[in-house]
Amino acid sequence: MEDFTFDGTKRLSVDYVKGILQPTVTCDIWDEIWNFQAKPDDLLISTYPKAGTTWTQEIVELIQNEGDVEKSKEAPTHQRFPFLEWKIPSLGSGLEQAHAMPSPRILKTHLPFHLLPPSFLEKNCKIIYVARNPKDNMVSYYHFQRMNKALPDPGTWEEYFETFLAGKVCWGSWHEHVKGWWEAKDKHRILYLFYEDMKKNPKHEVQKLTEFIEKKLDDKVLDKIVHYTSFDVMKQNPMANYSSIPAEIMDHSISPFMRKGAVGDWKKHFTVAQNERFDEDYKKKMADTRLTFHFQF
Ligand code: PPS
Repeated sequence: MEDFTFDGTKRLSVDYVKGILQPTVTCDIWDEIWNFQAKPDDLLISTYPKAGTTWTQEIVELIQNEGDVEKSKEAPTHQRFPFLEWKIPSLGSGLEQAHAMPSPRILKTHLPFHLLPPSFLEKNCKIIYVARNPKDNMVSYYHFQRMNKALPDPGTWEEYFETFLAGKVCWGSWHEHVKGWWEAKDKHRILYLFYEDMKKNPKHEVQKLTEFIEKKLDDKVLDKIVHYTSFDVMKQNPMANYSSIPAEIMDHSISPFMRKGAVGDWKKHFTVAQNERFDEDYKKKMADTRLTFHFQF
């Protein structure tokens, strides 16, 4: 694996760690990830892939920097926020980045709650979890796998639909992920947010995040943060739109990282039959939780 080089055609291989599919490079360093030593002032942003991580990272950093937009443009997203379990041949690893970064650090993970390195809870770190309705989440993940050679080829949409429902995608089942973190949220310092709420009333969710981070920002700064973290502005921001990742890894001409940024885009992808099948499966898998989602406005 060490001599793997992206050439625009080859993809990273995947394997299982504790029953969860991950890039093999992540599986290889799993013990180091599990033993990661969090610091009490670390802030962790946790999500299922494609649920609004980058958006939340941008908001949180602007809150920390009290709206200083220039500061948040000092480096691209993947360098500003170490992604714990991430390792890309030629680009480095989240662990290395985290170790080299001065505190306070804002870290990223997609790990399901039961695979979260225990030190985050031992140190009582603040954690922000963002969940997105599974239909839009699935569509976004499908397009991301098409353009990102660090993840498996998704196959056709029909094939991917089944793969996703079976939870055979990297970071595992969406249903287990959102439920695992939902159950954990009242026992630990976890703020649980929804992509759809952020979309519907961004200022309200930015205020919630500001309170959670224990910052005091005046109304003008809040408005500025909402503006700079809107989809249209972030899409044009080279430090937030992942355009700095080599095209051999992320090929934005296949599908841009900042794709639609919408609620309800799934309607353009799901057939009537797929929607019925999805709803039936969802009902079963979500029968044991009070967690609910908005699938459209
Ligand atoms: S990743 O790779 O897991 O970190 O991806 P993640 O950032 O979680 O999710 C990417 C999707 O979020 C959309 N996005 C946004 N939506 C609304 N507003 C803002 N500011 C924003 N920034 C990113 C992005 O477009 C991806 O969703 P889709 O549906 O594919 O467009």
